[in-house]
Amino acid sequence: MMENYAVIGHPIGHSKSPLIHNSHFETLGRNAIYTSYDVPPEHLGAAVEAFQTLGVKGFNVTVPHKVEIIPFLDFVDEEALDIGAVNTVVNREGKWHGYNTDGKGYLNGLIEMTGDALKQMRVLVIGAGGASRAVATVLARHGVEQLAITNRTTARADELKANLARYIDVDVLDKSSARRMLPSFDLIINTTSLGMNGEDTLPMETEDMKTNVYLSDLIYNPLETRWLQIGKPKAKAIQNGLSMFIEQAALAYEIWTEKHADRAFMSRMIREEME
Ligand code: ATR
Repeated sequence: MMENYAVIGHPIGHSKSPLIHNSHFETLGRNAIYTSYDVPPEHLGAAVEAFQTLGVKGFNVTVPHKVEIIPFLDFVDEEALDIGAVNTVVNREGKWHGYNTDGKGYLNGLIEMTGDALKQMRVLVIGAGGASRAVATVLARHGVEQLAITNRTTARADELKANLARYIDVDVLDKSSARRMLPSFDLIINTTSLGMNGEDTLPMETEDMKTNVYLSDLIYNPLETRWLQIGKPKAKAIQNGLSMFIEQAALAYEIWTEKHADRAFMSRMIREEME
């Protein structure tokens, strides 16, 4: 019997998830289909119930439902609870189990770039929204030498610090302290939306960054933000958001099917699509 998978969001039009999952199913010869549904917030519960009725095997959850989905689930993974958001749900014998593959997906991609050195790094995270929560939480759980967060709205960074207190003592930095301390960071991560549009200001100045800094930007459209472009000559390595996108999809597939995903295929496919 054909397996059904889905993604729910509002709006949903821009999602590349159907493309990556359907072509991946096809290449592996899996009899499965992945469909996107635009679900407004007031219909979230009804949608989850409908998925159960229809025997949907698993689904992804995107903006604005990643937090609100939690009360509709039967079990939620510890890391997803720490992040406070679920992006992957699997149906196991009629029960919904929720995970967050954005966090682990980001970490896997990051370790590809930095290797084991990550644990010894001083890390600055720019931004304190939903994406930052996933990134900061996995870094705090993994362990790093220092975790600093700076955000336009400092109160949101303070909230994140409080949430992570049992793992690490986060340094919340205002803009001027972040600038002053910039030369001390080994890894700087942009989780804000700054860079999606060509005319955006830079998320952080680049002049004072140390030579051989690692730069990571969660944005993958454009593939290279102006910030990555400008920082690149000084950087040891740069990374855009594509590896996180590919890894979160691969991990979701593995949760749903308990089989290995073909990451090389996913990567090739999405890179071709983005060019
Ligand atoms: P996401 O889920 O992508 O993280 P979000 O939760 O809306 O989206 O968070 C957006 C992040 O980008 C926030 O850190 C936001 O800063 P505020 O918390 O101060 O809103 C940041 N951001 C967005 N536009 C920005 C801008 N023009 N300047 C500085 N930061 C910006």
